[in-house]
Amino acid sequence: MPAMAHDDLFDPAHYAATLADFGAARTLPAWCYTDPAFYQRETERCFRPNWHFIGHESEIADPGQYISTDLVLGPVMVIRGRDDTLRAFANTCRHRGARLLGAGHGRCAAIVCPYHSWTYDHTGALRGAPSMDEMPGFAREDWGLVGLRLESCNGFLWVTANRHAPALEDYLGDFVGRFRGYDFAAMRVVRREVYDVACNWKVLAENALEEYHTGTVHAGSLGQQHSVPVETDGHWCAIFIPQETSLSVLPGEAAPFRHITGLEPPASDGAYFTMLYPNTQFACTQDSMWCVTFHPVGPEQTRVRVAFCFPEQTASCDNFDSDSGRYFERWIAGIEEDNAIGPVQQQGLRSFASVPGPYGPKEFAVHKMNQWIVRTVIGG
Ligand code: FES
Ligand SMILES: [Fe+2]
Repeated sequence: MPAMAHDDLFDPAHYAATLADFGAARTLPAWCYTDPAFYQRETERCFRPNWHFIGHESEIADPGQYISTDLVLGPVMVIRGRDDTLRAFANTCRHRGARLLGAGHGRCAAIVCPYHSWTYDHTGALRGAPSMDEMPGFAREDWGLVGLRLESCNGFLWVTANRHAPALEDYLGDFVGRFRGYDFAAMRVVRREVYDVACNWKVLAENALEEYHTGTVHAGSLGQQHSVPVETDGHWCAIFIPQETSLSVLPGEAAPFRHITGLEPPASDGAYFTMLYPNTQFACTQDSMWCVTFHPVGPEQTRVRVAFCFPEQTASCDNFDSDSGRYFERWIAGIEEDNAIGPVQQQGLRSFASVPGPYGPKEFAVHKMNQWIVRTVIGG
C-alpha cells in the first residue's frame, strides 16, 4: 500500500493492525506522516480540542510579563496582570486581526497593536482605540481580547480553547499524582531552545518514546539505553530507564547536583520519558527535567520547543553556572541527533513502498501512542 493519499484514507480497516495487541501490531500507515488530509483531521481531533503546554509560572513571575507562542490554534499569549493573576488570550487584535505580541518572552505595560495602536490592558480589556469614538455605536467594552482557559498544573501552564475540555488533571489521569515527587512547582526554566525540523511531529514524538535507536543514533554520545514499560492511566504514556545516577549528563560524567528532595522510588531510581498526549514530553531525572513540545507546523514540518528545568534550589546554588554546562551538553547532543534522524525517516516514509512494519520489543510506548492517535483520529 503506497504512502500516498487514498480515497478511503479514514477507513478503519487500514488501522486495525495498529490497534492489535503489541506482539502482532503494525506501525501506522506512512500517509499518517505525509498526507495533508490526515494531518488536517489529526489537527482537528488531537490538537484543537486539547490542552496545550505553554511554560512555567516562574517564567512570568512579575506583572506585565508574558509568554507569546504559536499553537495549532494560532498565536496565543499568557500574561500576568497587576493583580498577580495569569490570563491567556488569543494573540490577535479585535480590529483587523493583527498579531499583537511577537513570539517569545517579554514584558509590557499594555498590549499595543502594532498596526493602528488599539491598546489592551493585562485583563484583555480594550482601553484605547484611536478615532473609534467617531464611529456610531462603537463601544470599547465590546472589543476585549478573546480569552482561553488557563490551568496551572503544579506550576506548569497549559491553555485550551475548548470550553468543554476536562480539567487538565482529569485528562492526565494518574500522571499528576505519580509525578508529584518531582515538585514541578519548585522548578525553574533555566534555558529554552527552539528547532525547526523537516518531518511530521509524530516522527519526533515516537522517537522520544523508545531507546531502541539510542545505540545507533546516539552511539557517540548517550550510548545504548535500556528501558522498561510503564503502566499509565489517562492521556499519557511513558518509558522508564532505570539508572542510579542522573541521565541528564553524558555517560562517564559526574552529575554534581543534589537529587530532588523527597523523590521516592521508582522516580529516584531512574528517568521517565513521558508523552502527555498529544505532543508534550516531560523527561524527568533525579536532579532535573526538560519539557519538549513537538509543535506541528505542517504535515512534514515540526517546531521543537525545549525548556530545560532545575529545582530552584539547584538553579540558585553557587556552582550552578560552572556545573550546569555538562547537562546542556548532554541534552543538546541528544536533541540534535534526534532532530537529524527525523528527516531521514520522513524521506523514507514518502516512498511508494513504505508499508506498516513490526514494532521492536522496546517500542511498546510508541505502539501505545499510535493507538491513541488511531482512536482519536479514526475512532474504534
Ligand atoms: S489591526 Fe490592530 S489596531 Fe488595527
Ligand atoms: Fe534519541
